[in-house]
Amino acid sequence: MVTLLEFDLSAALVEKGGIRLEDLRALEPELSSLVAAMDSGWRSGSLPFLGLPDVDPEPLLDLARQARQRFDRLVVLGIGGSSLGARAVLDAVGSKEPGHPAVWFNENVDPDDFRQMMEALDWERTQFNVITKSGSTIETLSGMFIVLEELEKRFGEGGARERIVVTTDPETGPLRAFARERGFTALQVPPGVGGRYSVLCPVGLYPCAFGGVDVAALLSGAARARERCLSPVLMDNPAALFAGLQVLHYRSNRPIVVFMPYATALGALAEWFCQLWAESLGKRRGEELVGPTPLRALGVTDQHSQLQLYMEGPRDKNVVLVEVKQFRRSVRVPMLQGASEAIAHLGGKDLGEILQAELQGTQQALIEVGCPTSNLRLSSLTPGSLGALLMMLEVATPLAGGLLGVNPYDQPGVELGKRYAHGLLGRAKEAQHAESLRAALAGRTRVGVTI
Ligand code: PA5
Repeated sequence: MVTLLEFDLSAALVEKGGIRLEDLRALEPELSSLVAAMDSGWRSGSLPFLGLPDVDPEPLLDLARQARQRFDRLVVLGIGGSSLGARAVLDAVGSKEPGHPAVWFNENVDPDDFRQMMEALDWERTQFNVITKSGSTIETLSGMFIVLEELEKRFGEGGARERIVVTTDPETGPLRAFARERGFTALQVPPGVGGRYSVLCPVGLYPCAFGGVDVAALLSGAARARERCLSPVLMDNPAALFAGLQVLHYRSNRPIVVFMPYATALGALAEWFCQLWAESLGKRRGEELVGPTPLRALGVTDQHSQLQLYMEGPRDKNVVLVEVKQFRRSVRVPMLQGASEAIAHLGGKDLGEILQAELQGTQQALIEVGCPTSNLRLSSLTPGSLGALLMMLEVATPLAGGLLGVNPYDQPGVELGKRYAHGLLGRAKEAQHAESLRAALAGRTRVGVTI
């Protein structure tokens, strides 16, 4: 069987700033019982995200195929777990053929950006996928209502209906009710699958299918990884090793994990990982505030930006280098006639070889100064490898949560800000919040400078 993915932690087991293998092994009993609990949670249906690779994608693929005959573009209106997964997969392994239906993501309520998108769209040939599990997210719904008004103006109610697909909870939430009333095509976020664990359900799969991803291969890579990641044997289980290693770093005063892919196409994957890790693990445990801080970086770009800090700044980080062993394409630097010795050695080298040398050089430099590293290696940029990586990190996250003693599936900390925003925007339920925010603003001593 072809290898899809490798997690290699040998570079983390170094003397200077590294982790001791015996410390990792000491976590094995705890990790094994956390893995066993996940395994039985999956089998009993209480952790449905683990079962997503087994769901037949055909009906969804069929819907996407039909849409692609009619539309050249899909605009996803969604945010957080309702957009980052599909964006990560599409960037990495979506079709790059010229003219292939493109998927755009609109995740913000920035008016300049939104207007620019509206002006650039070919409305006739565009479908909109409104994705929100709760069905009540301010940003997503604001975007939907703007788009809906425009669609109705241009194509009438029927034409607007044909151009909208919503993805939301099968029963609850304001969007489900609205979709029923309007007769929109509505896909389901399976109950019990949280936003940041939802990339392998219609939330991620519909945009991916529209954008030409081989969804079956993505799911089969994820299924293969699931088998490995639910192994009770620590040294056979990449997710448990990843979680254990990260928690040991955290406990050794290295609370920052830099996730650094060496491939432009994996930049969005780093964003997806950061959300998964941050929103799942940054939690209150009793009186204690817990949580590692994920940081995204891009190799080699950030060698010329962040690396100085990793090398000579505080020793509070570990770096996960994500690499692609075999790129899809090759680009060679020509032989450099007349170039000085300082640069002539670049002649004849493939860019992939240069990237690999940069990665190895950076890793060695980090090791020498005592900044620990580890390697996640994708054999190539394929849907199978990516599916395996997504599943591995999705399993590693609750395992780390278990070791840290926090609930990796909720996000209570994001609610307060939302309440204030709803209050300011006039929702009666949060009138008190609006009032107290205005009072706080009025009472704040203003210190600021203008230019
Ligand atoms: O992971 C999560 O649960 C969150 O990031 C949500 O995905 C995000 O807040 C968007 O929520 P919703 O899908 O309800 O619009």
